[in-house]
Amino acid sequence: MAAGKDWSPETYARFWGLRLRPALDLLAQVQDLPEGDVVDLGCGNGAVGPALAALFPGRKLIGIDQSPAMLAEAAATGAYRRCLSEDAAMWEPATPPALIFSNAALQWLGDHDTLLPRLAGSVAPGGTLAVQMPRQFNAPSHRFLREFAADMFPDRFDFVDWHPPVRAPVDYHRLLAPLGQLNVWETDYIHRLEPDGVGHPVRRFTEGAAMRPFLNLLSPSETEAFAARYDEALAAAYPAEDDGSVLFPFRRVFIVLQMPAHPF
Ligand SMILES: C[S@@+](CC[C@H](N)C(=O)[O-])C[C@H]1O[C@@H](n2cnc3c(N)ncnc32)[C@H](O)[C@@H]1O
Repeated sequence: MAAGKDWSPETYARFWGLRLRPALDLLAQVQDLPEGDVVDLGCGNGAVGPALAALFPGRKLIGIDQSPAMLAEAAATGAYRRCLSEDAAMWEPATPPALIFSNAALQWLGDHDTLLPRLAGSVAPGGTLAVQMPRQFNAPSHRFLREFAADMFPDRFDFVDWHPPVRAPVDYHRLLAPLGQLNVWETDYIHRLEPDGVGHPVRRFTEGAAMRPFLNLLSPSETEAFAARYDEALAAAYPAEDDGSVLFPFRRVFIVLQMPAHPF
């Protein structure tokens, strides 16, 4: 990964509690597991590692991510037995895990029609695939990024043929229900963001993840102009409350698929 293009664990951790909540909501729906390891796929900075380790004591917890900076933070939590640098799109477990848990990571990968059944097929009999992904792509917070980037920097950004990487919950239900016991749901969280005096609170949130691919292709002066336009539009879409905070609705889709204990 090119220097300067890696994830920033510090920026991502700015809204640590708000980002952790959906992971815990996902984890709450994971039922009994068979023997085997627990894999945190796209573990990032290891934010969910301590919760996974606490819920499944005695199991080997393996963190997998592609970002050296995030993996270093994950290892430093001490929650993981192993932290491996792998591309989740290609990764295959050495032994079938009891649980593949993936929070806010698989939206960065395409072709879910192939990826999710493949991951489900790689867990142990009776094991579980548990996935949470943002489905925020058409909300102003994310739509503005594409619109302004394509308008201001058409040499680098073109979304004419772009499709959201995350599908509607019913699509995942149709795709995965034939494979096992399935639980799919969607939640709109209402995040209350405090101003920090640096930029619109929603920008301060998206800088940690969704805005990264845009900023990676901009010079410092381009970043300044892009952020100023984004801040102005965000202020209209997400106005400040009386106390200065901003209410930020954020949609996420959840999938918990428990595979049959005995293959069909
Ligand atoms: C938004 S963070 C989520 C981290 C963590 N799961 C959490 O809940 O805090 C997304 C993570 O997915 C990782 N990621 C994105 N694409 C990946 C890929 N193809 N293979 C492995 N990790 C990937 C990124 O490096 C990043 O650390």
